[in-house]
Formats: sequence, C-alpha cells, structure tokens
Amino acid sequence: MKTNYTEIDEIIYKYERYTKEIAKWLTHSKVQHSISTVSYASYIAKKIEKPHLEHKVVIAGLLHDLCRELPPYEMLRRAEELDIPIDDFAKHNPILLHGPLSAEVAKQIFTELDEEIYEAIYWHTTGKAGLKLTGLILYLADFSEPLRKYPQAEVARDILDTQGFQKALIYTVEQRLSLKKHSALPQTVEFLTWVKKEALLS
Ligand SMILES: [Fe+2]
Ligand SMILES: [Fe+2]
Repeated sequence: MKTNYTEIDEIIYKYERYTKEIAKWLTHSKVQHSISTVSYASYIAKKIEKPHLEHKVVIAGLLHDLCRELPPYEMLRRAEELDIPIDDFAKHNPILLHGPLSAEVAKQIFTELDEEIYEAIYWHTTGKAGLKLTGLILYLADFSEPLRKYPQAEVARDILDTQGFQKALIYTVEQRLSLKKHSALPQTVEFLTWVKKEALLS
C-alpha cells in the first residue's frame, strides 16, 4: 500500500486537537505509528464501504496508544487510581493496561469522546468478543499499518485486499495469539472464536 502523504497532512491539520495531545505523551516514532494506523484505518473503512466510520477510526487511531509509553509502575498506579481491573496477566505485564488506560485518559481529556471510540481504544490490545466495527478496524490497522516491520503486517494487508476484512482479521488475531510471549489471553481466545463465526459486516 502506498502512503498518501497529502491525506496524512490533512489528518494532522483537521484533527489538530488530538495530534497536539499525543505529541505531549509519545515519542516521535509512536506518534508516527499512531498516524500511520489512522491512515491505514481510514483506508480499511473505505475498503469495506463504511466511510461514515472514518471520523471515529481517525480519532480512535490517534488516541489508541496515548499511555503506551508510561513506565510499567506508572501504568499500574494509574490503573488502580482509575479503578481499571488488573488481572494476573496485567499484573505481570502492565503494558497490557495501556489500552484501558489510554481510553480512560482520553475520556478525561476529551470529555465528549464517543462510546464506540472509547471501546475501540480500550480493547485494541486484546480484542473482545462483540467489539463494534470501529474497534475491529483499529485492531486490524494497529497490527498491519505500513510502518510495522514484521512480515505478518504485509501479509494481513494483502489478505484484506484479496480475501476481505473478516479473513484479514482472523489472520491478525491468530498471529497476535501466536506472537504473544505470555500465554494466550482468555479475551483474545474468545475474540478469535467470535470473529470466526460472526458475520462482521452485516
Ligand atoms: Fe497499543
Ligand atoms: Fe498501536
């Protein structure tokens, strides 16, 4: 996929409130990843003929990693403070909390944040059975945006173009389960069963 830089400039300008905020929280390379996720997520929204979701996927993509670079102890501290559930997986891998934390912090900063955007950010690392389309698009875009260095990203983009959204999503969830260093997260296993049987675009 070619990156359309004019489009990226437009996103940065039009969504300046959000891009300015993420620049306060993230290093340059994570800001680049977030913008690339946005650009690819908008491509997916158009590709699956849901252009009305573009606005939501842009905001979700920009904010999804807001808390990704906080130190692990700070993730745990903030999660406790915000009453975010901390299970054993998260206790040992606080990085797993960055989705819920980013969603909560984004909601505090941008109080008008839409529920579907909040949900997409909250679950972008693990996935969740029943996730709405904005969340599904973000999950796929986060894994396969063109700046990702691992070869599976290109495979996922290729599957989207040749076999469609659902197949690309199934591949992505399977890859994330197999790439995880720790044991498979129960939410992700349930998510995989769900994306396999559900008619996602109906
Ligand atoms: Fe993330
Ligand atoms: Fe990300």
